Amino acid sequence: MTEIPEHLLNRSKARRSEASGESTSDSSPAVATPAASAAPAKAKEAPAPKAVVQDPAYVVAAKTRKKIPFWAMTTLALLPAWAMLYLIALKPAEKVVAGPLAIGATTFGSCAGCHGADGAGGAGRVLYQGEVMKTFPHIEDMLNFVYTGSQEYVAAGLKLYGNPKREGGAHAPLSYNGNPMPMQGETVGGALTEAEILSVVCHVRYTTSGADPASEEWMSEYETWCSPDSEIFKALEAGSSTFDSIEKDFAMLAEKPGAVGTKPRAAISK
Ligand code: HEC
Repeated sequence: MTEIPEHLLNRSKARRSEASGESTSDSSPAVATPAASAAPAKAKEAPAPKAVVQDPAYVVAAKTRKKIPFWAMTTLALLPAWAMLYLIALKPAEKVVAGPLAIGATTFGSCAGCHGADGAGGAGRVLYQGEVMKTFPHIEDMLNFVYTGSQEYVAAGLKLYGNPKREGGAHAPLSYNGNPMPMQGETVGGALTEAEILSVVCHVRYTTSGADPASEEWMSEYETWCSPDSEIFKALEAGSSTFDSIEKDFAMLAEKPGAVGTKPRAAISK
């Protein structure tokens, strides 16, 4: 009798069991065939319901989500118009923010400790209700004084600062509780640039002291020194002019000599 190879036996056994529908626990390669053919049958069943029923969760969410209500449409339709208005409104605001008064309002934070946030005074003299305009009818003298502080005036032998004919009496250095006004300019040991000193002086004159930029008395000063369009302010900020060269750099100052410098000096006499 011929020996039948084992794998052929297994195959015929598998065929038989396939024909009779019986499953077999035999795990030979031949037996894998019915299992393998069963798999595609199962797979065929699976995709059918999937394609019909299942939307992915995000599609379901999009389909069931609430739509934009009709009344919101008017608001949405106006958005472009609103955006235009917004852009138009932005332009003048930028200009104001860059001007000396806006910068000075911030810089005044370093003065407020002694002079009060509104200029009502304290360790330093009052800087409100027009008092400082009496002391310094010329902004140039105030710029000088704030730049150097009062001790430089003492050292230079100056008996007074500001207007010698000041209404209510001229101010002498160290005449306010004997305390000095500290120097502010960078080159004499202070922390402020010349553009910042101009800005804070403009803030004190036109905001805390309340001088009216539209008045006949102050209009010219305001436009020359403190308006956002001030060429002097722009030049100081850009570094193209300094307190010491300002009179040479700006023709309109040469007409009225006595422009600001960085050394203590007697007030402009006119
Ligand atoms: C440490 C306190 C102190 C600080 C900070 C200070 N000051 Fe003064 N300030 C004084 C004192 C004190 C006087 C009076 C000086 C004197 O009599 O010599 C004075 C005087 C003045 C005057 C003269 C007022 C007048 O009518 O006579 C001005 C203007 C002035 N300060 C502006 C400023 C500005 C601007 C700043 C900030 C950049 C500032 N001060 C920061 C203490 C201070």
